[in-house]
Amino acid sequence: MKVLIACEESQEVCKAFRKLGHEAYSCDILPCSGGHPEWHIQDDILKHLDDGWDLMIAHPPCTYLTKAGTRWLYPKGILNQERYKKGLKAKEFFFKLFNANIQMITIENPKPQKIFEMPKETQIIQPCEFGHKLKKTTCLWLKGLPKLNPTEIVKPEYYIDRKGVRHSKLTGWSAKRKSKTFSGIAKAMAEQWGKKEKGEKK
Ligand SMILES: C[S@@+](CC[C@H](N)C(=O)[O-])C[C@H]1O[C@@H](n2cnc3c(N)ncnc32)[C@H](O)[C@@H]1O
Repeated sequence: MKVLIACEESQEVCKAFRKLGHEAYSCDILPCSGGHPEWHIQDDILKHLDDGWDLMIAHPPCTYLTKAGTRWLYPKGILNQERYKKGLKAKEFFFKLFNANIQMITIENPKPQKIFEMPKETQIIQPCEFGHKLKKTTCLWLKGLPKLNPTEIVKPEYYIDRKGVRHSKLTGWSAKRKSKTFSGIAKAMAEQWGKKEKGEKK
């Protein structure tokens, strides 16, 4: 199967599909950090949507569209017009990916801000349903694909700070580390959405 992992520099999902014998490529404007430049297209994803893919899994930037940026979108309770315009651009990018001429598509992102009137996600997943002791609400918009089934449900861990406030273990991680796909989720995507076995002719 020809698989495109859009907006992925870590190659986490790309490598999971390669492991099962698929012809998978990551694509990002950044160089890859996953150690396989031969499987990486360093370019604007929009130039590669019509290259004959069977499946695309996309992780578009979430900074302006999602709840992650709430405090910047409404500083002192007033809508920041600059941020809002950037959010609308991010929405346009989302739809260019979702409307691509590819039979099976997934878009992964955190929960979007209401103001952008995004379509409802198909499902919400958590890393703790795939073997990672963390909660990070992740939405999937699916086209031509079944919902992703949990593979290993574990109890999420938290830490309590001196004020007694509960924090996810993600607190303190860099934005890049936070946005990297969890290996358990990548594996589940490859196993459940990659239909062919290793060694089978593509
Ligand atoms: C939220 S991060 C996703 C990271 C991904 N989960 C991973 O494990 O590498 C969004 C990524 O989109 C990339 N990006 C932004 N605009 C792009 C474009 N036009 N074409 C390709 N990649 C793009 C960024 O460089 C960034 O790495």
